[in-house]
Amino acid sequence: MLPRFSSRAFLAPMAGVSDPALRLQCKKLGAGLVVTEFTNIHSIIAKEKELKEDKKTIQSFIEYSESERPLSVQLFGSNLEALEKAAKIVEPYFDIIDYNMGCPAPHVTRQMAGGALLQESNLTQQIFSTLVGAVKKPVTLKFRLGVTDASRYLFKDIAEIAEDEGIEMITLHPRTVNQGYSGDADWKMIKELKQISSIPIVGNGDIKTPEDAKEMIDQTNCDYVMIGRGAMGNPFLFEQIKDYLKTGTYNQYSFKDKLDSFFEYLHLTKQYKIKFANIKGQAMRFTKGLSHGSKLRLQITSSKNIEELEKIMKNAYQQN
Ligand SMILES: Cc1cc2nc3c(=O)[nH]c(=O)nc-3n(C[C@H](O)[C@H](O)[C@H](O)COP(=O)(O)O)c2cc1C
Repeated sequence: MLPRFSSRAFLAPMAGVSDPALRLQCKKLGAGLVVTEFTNIHSIIAKEKELKEDKKTIQSFIEYSESERPLSVQLFGSNLEALEKAAKIVEPYFDIIDYNMGCPAPHVTRQMAGGALLQESNLTQQIFSTLVGAVKKPVTLKFRLGVTDASRYLFKDIAEIAEDEGIEMITLHPRTVNQGYSGDADWKMIKELKQISSIPIVGNGDIKTPEDAKEMIDQTNCDYVMIGRGAMGNPFLFEQIKDYLKTGTYNQYSFKDKLDSFFEYLHLTKQYKIKFANIKGQAMRFTKGLSHGSKLRLQITSSKNIEELEKIMKNAYQQN
């Protein structure tokens, strides 16, 4: 059974972005669910073996904190044996096991994983039944429409298979794999998915403001919304959406507030093994819209360690 969610707005899984520090910030500001970056099932198996020798668990590989709960772990990879093994390894630590069938990156689709699976209904059916059979925790799915424009309705067949096999919730990012991030997310498709489904549907794609979130819910009747890029450098969006859906108004936040939240993020990163390149990426996003932002971003790019980065951001704080 799915856990109870405290809000209708979820944070999307984003490789290199939705690290445990950002997830915790979004959670504290009201995200109903946060999802880990996608993780390769083969890496989970290899890491678990390595960690066991040091008497550690997979928690040292996929880092998180208890305050993030309910927490979903996202897996990718289509080898059934490996999938079963990986799902069993992560199950004790997470509340939901999410399966990725949307990633358009060639290094993923080439291994018959991510979005490429949308055209493989037999294999997909086996993947769902393997996953649901392997674990007692709820299994959910995140996918795109189809691969090409001509196959943009593949999601309907896959959704039907998913529901039959016991998948408990589906997130749709309504673009095709070939579209990448171009064009607009086609929210009408979320409405169509909702009409044919009897499990909760999460709408995703192009939500940047509380108004967008409400608009998607009104247009599609989706149960939840998921936000990716709109939450980058702006964890306040979760609080704003929650308030807007409840009261029709929300608090505004200044650049200084955003920078404050970056310092909080920086503080949180110290508890985890987050790559410095990813932290720099976050710094860039927290500066969006700042005066002298482009000059600041150049400085961020050339910073070599956390101390340098912190100094640059503190200077920016004083100048804004
Ligand atoms: C940098 C980046 C990394 C992403 N990584 C993942 C991922 O690991 N798993 C996944 O299912 N989707 C991933 N996505 C897709 C997002 O979860 C989301 O579906 C997409 O960005 C559309 O939502 P948005 O318009 O709110 O950003 C990623 C997107 C971005 C921008």
